[in-house]
Amino acid sequence: MHIPAGARITLDVCAESFREAKRFFQRHYPTPAARAIVSSSWMFSPLLNQLLPADSNLVRFMRELYLYPTNSRSRSGPWFVFLQEQFDPATAPRKTRLQRAILDHLQAGNFWRDGGMFFMLDDLEHFGSQWYQKSAAWSCQTR
Ligand SMILES: CC(C)(COP(=O)(O)OP(=O)(O)OC[C@H]1O[C@@H](n2cnc3c(N)ncnc32)[C@H](O)[C@@H]1OP(=O)(O)O)[C@@H](O)C(=O)NCCC(=O)NCCS
Repeated sequence: MHIPAGARITLDVCAESFREAKRFFQRHYPTPAARAIVSSSWMFSPLLNQLLPADSNLVRFMRELYLYPTNSRSRSGPWFVFLQEQFDPATAPRKTRLQRAILDHLQAGNFWRDGGMFFMLDDLEHFGSQWYQKSAAWSCQTR
């Protein structure tokens, strides 16, 4: 998965993008069949849940995904949030809620962690229902 900068990442936009990716791979790369959308990024950090409000696009998107930990652990912030060549918390921008929350988190002596995610293409019909958070449902139901 590639996440371009700029447009807001609403659930509708994500759902349509996932559906389009499924159609694209079915048409152009049918074998072996693509099974999942996968990514690892600052955008899937478990910290975002704590640092951003529940109604932010990033948090709402994460609730739709199967999240897993990755091994990053850093005293610097994520590059895509501050866009500084050399990260410096003293001069890093504090314009957005996310920037302020991450800087406060780091300045309190904590670490930054990236995270990983996948979404199974067979589960697309459930996108928007927080499918993987309802673990009892997805592990036991037949389609
Ligand atoms: C993906 C993206 C469009 C999501 O933005 P969004 O839809 O506004 O996300 P949210 O609704 O969750 O934002 C909540 C808050 O965090 C801020 N925020 C979100 N992404 C941010 C970013 N990359 N840098 C700085 N602030 C960011 C928003 O501005 C908002 O704060 P505000 O209300 O003070 O303006 C945005 O993060 C972005 O452009 N990222 C760059 C591309 C990228 O990182 N790709 C991944 C590479 S691995």
